[in-house]
Amino acid sequence: MAKAKVSIIGGAGRVGSTLALYLAERKLADVVLVDIAEEKAKGVALDILQALPVYGNETKITAGSYEDTKNSDVVVITAGLPRNPGMTREELLEKNSSIMKSVVTEFIKYSPNTILLIVSNPLDAMVYVASEVSKFPKNRIIGMAGILDTSRFKAFIAEELNVAPKEIETVVLGSHGNEMVPLLSHTFVNKKPLKDLLSEEKINAIIERTRNAGAEIVGLQKDTSAYIAPAASIAQMIDSILNDKKMILPCSAYINGEYGAERIFIGVPAVLGKDGVEKIIELKLEKEEKEEFEKSVESIKNLVKNL
Ligand code: APR
Repeated sequence: MAKAKVSIIGGAGRVGSTLALYLAERKLADVVLVDIAEEKAKGVALDILQALPVYGNETKITAGSYEDTKNSDVVVITAGLPRNPGMTREELLEKNSSIMKSVVTEFIKYSPNTILLIVSNPLDAMVYVASEVSKFPKNRIIGMAGILDTSRFKAFIAEELNVAPKEIETVVLGSHGNEMVPLLSHTFVNKKPLKDLLSEEKINAIIERTRNAGAEIVGLQKDTSAYIAPAASIAQMIDSILNDKKMILPCSAYINGEYGAERIFIGVPAVLGKDGVEKIIELKLEKEEKEEFEKSVESIKNLVKNL
């Protein structure tokens, strides 16, 4: 059976190249990198290609043009400008949406039936732009954010309680920004509610750190925003899609009626399989969580209304 094909637009960048490495290492798919920085993309592809024989790994990785992305099973868009220190995701909106429009217009000529994963920020708005331009069925457009936010929340809880992250069950919904909604009513550590294990003050501090996790990394690294955890999160989505694993993963998916919101891409738990988003999982929210989710919906609507 032919190996699956994943194309990464923006593949010479930090998130794209790290994702390419993860995909190749896990033998999830052959990978094509496309970037306006063509030479750099070629260099990244060669570097990864030369690493693979060390492990006897025969995954193909190349860099090329949109034509080379023909018939991709999944297209990932990481093209865009990253967030610089002090810059909000919203400030990126204008620049990245024009990049998004041009990139989507190009790749759909070659892969009209692909599943599209969006990573560029501000995430929920970029997913909206990709949907408007591509006119793809909504199940085939998904944004990466919820896995990352949930993983960050888990990492901080695990550190605070000194437990393995896999003992933690939790989910972060809503927009990928300051209005993300960590669901405390669905947060358990070895089946015990987090609320019973940590003080309200500690929990609030962890939530605050999760909201600012991206900014914390930019502040420390200065010249780069986070890319390792984002790439790992996309690889997980691709694994579930290509191998039809039907994992329930929080991601920016289209809802129309679920969670009381209409016609919007926003972070919710979704079953990801060979058809992309196969089902939205609706969790019962507490009153406060519902209000926070509504705020999240509003913030996304405000962001996209002028696009
Ligand atoms: N077409 C193709 N590639 C493009 C285009 C374009 N029109 N415009 C920019 N790029 C490429 C850049 O050349 C660069 O290689 O997108 C890549 C972006 O990579 P980085 O600057 O390293 O950014 P990265 O850290 O990978 O973040 C990518 O993900 O998390 C989000 O906010 C982040 O939107 C950003 C995206």
